[in-house]
Order: sequence, then structure tokens, then C-alpha cells
Amino acid sequence: MIKPDAVQRNLVGEIVSRFEKKGFKLIGAKLMHITEQQAEKHYSEHKGKSFYNQLVDFITSGPVFAMVWEGKEVIATARKMMGKTNPQEADTGTIRGDYGVVTHRNIIHGSDSEESAQREIALFFHENELLDYKKDV
Ligand code: CMP
Repeated sequence: MIKPDAVQRNLVGEIVSRFEKKGFKLIGAKLMHITEQQAEKHYSEHKGKSFYNQLVDFITSGPVFAMVWEGKEVIATARKMMGKTNPQEADTGTIRGDYGVVTHRNIIHGSDSEESAQREIALFFHENELLDYKKDV
């Protein structure tokens, strides 16, 4: 999910392009406002942490670009492409390393496991928004 800071800064095309060039298959994408309820569900594991309120406020502060990508080892690879959560620690060449400055505005979110991907996809997409098509690599 491309977060509100990156949408504001016109980075959607750049970020989508990185995943396209890598060779992953885009099966769903949309610009959307996340509701507070969705944000609370999405970040439920962080409830009670010092940055939780800031996190929910930020992710609901403007449109996000939600995406579903498919491919071999896509979750682990996407995490490498995104870089560390704290952009200051993220390597140059990663998305957060190249475009982010602070942890609470870190450009992009990616699911950290298959289970969280399933949960997060169901939270933001209807089944009929996920496309089944053949893509030659
Ligand atoms: P994300 O991948 O969206 O998952 C949880 C988010 O919480 C994370 O990216 C950061 O934006 C945010 N986050 C994690 N740790 C901190 C922190 N210590 N201070 C502020 N925000 C944090």
C-alpha cells in the first residue's frame, strides 16, 4: 500500500514501476480513502503502542494507493524492495531508503506474511476487484 505521504508527493507511478519492472503481476489496485475502522483493523497489532494514534491519523489523512501483487516469493521480495521500516536505516536503492525520511511517514506498507496479506487484501478489496488473467513473464 502506497501511503498518503507518497501519494501527495506524486510517487505512485515510480513505486508501481519498480514492482512492474521487477516482474510481479498486478492483480488489483485502487486509489482510496481508508476509513478509521479499516485503519484500526489494519493496525490492530499496534493498538496500545505509543505511535498507534499517529499511525491511524496518518493512514486516514489522505488517499492511499492499495495494490495486490502476485509472484514467486513476492512478500519477501517486496519487503526487500521496500527496505527497513525506518527510512534512515533503509538501504539506498530501496523504496523507503530512496524516498523516506521518518518512520511515521515511511512511504509504503507491505504485508509481512501470507496470513497478513490475506487479511489485509480482504480488508481493502472486494473479491471482484482482484483480476484473474494470464501474464507472460
Ligand atoms: P507499516 O509497514 O505501515 O506498519 C506499521 C507502521 O507503524 C510502520 O509501517 C511505521 O509507519 C509505523 N511505526 C513503526 N514503528 C514506529 C515508531 N517507533 N514510531 C512511529 N511509527 C512507527
